[in-house]
Amino acid sequence: MADAAFEGPALVTEEMVRALVDLFYTRAHADPLLGPFFAAAIPDWPEHLEVVGAFWSRVLRGTEGYRGCVMGAHGRLRMKPAHFDRWLALFEGSAKQTLPPEGAAQAMAVAHALDERLRRFAVQG
Ligand code: HEM
Repeated sequence: MADAAFEGPALVTEEMVRALVDLFYTRAHADPLLGPFFAAAIPDWPEHLEVVGAFWSRVLRGTEGYRGCVMGAHGRLRMKPAHFDRWLALFEGSAKQTLPPEGAAQAMAVAHALDERLRRFAVQG
């Protein structure tokens, strides 16, 4: 039987994903630009945290819990470039603080790719 250690340990754990999501939303809540935006847009916080956690767990750990559509989820929101700039800054700081460097780099690669697509399709004015 192959020694799992030779395949390398799982880089990012479920606990790290939870820590990332918790830290990001703690900061987003406290942020003067994003706080009110999220408060107005999200009716069910526990559910939102679970969905977003499942998304990042899929990205970082290959789990299969997330079945949503990120582009679709943002389509009706009225977001401006400043929202994206702040989102990325808070997310990057949170990722670097909660994930190992390779995990943070992977998370940022996905965040930047989605940022580019979301800005093109979802930014209003
Ligand atoms: C740029 C990278 C971004 C990523 C990777 C991202 C990721 C996600 C994910 C995974 C979800 C859950 C989707 C689902 O329900 O299936 C979500 C929902 C949401 N995001 Fe983002 N997001 C980004 C940018 C933003 C920005 C800039 C804002 C606003 C300032 C924002 C506000 C929201 C809101 C309000 C929801 C809830 C939508 C709903 O449930 O109707 N997101 N996001």
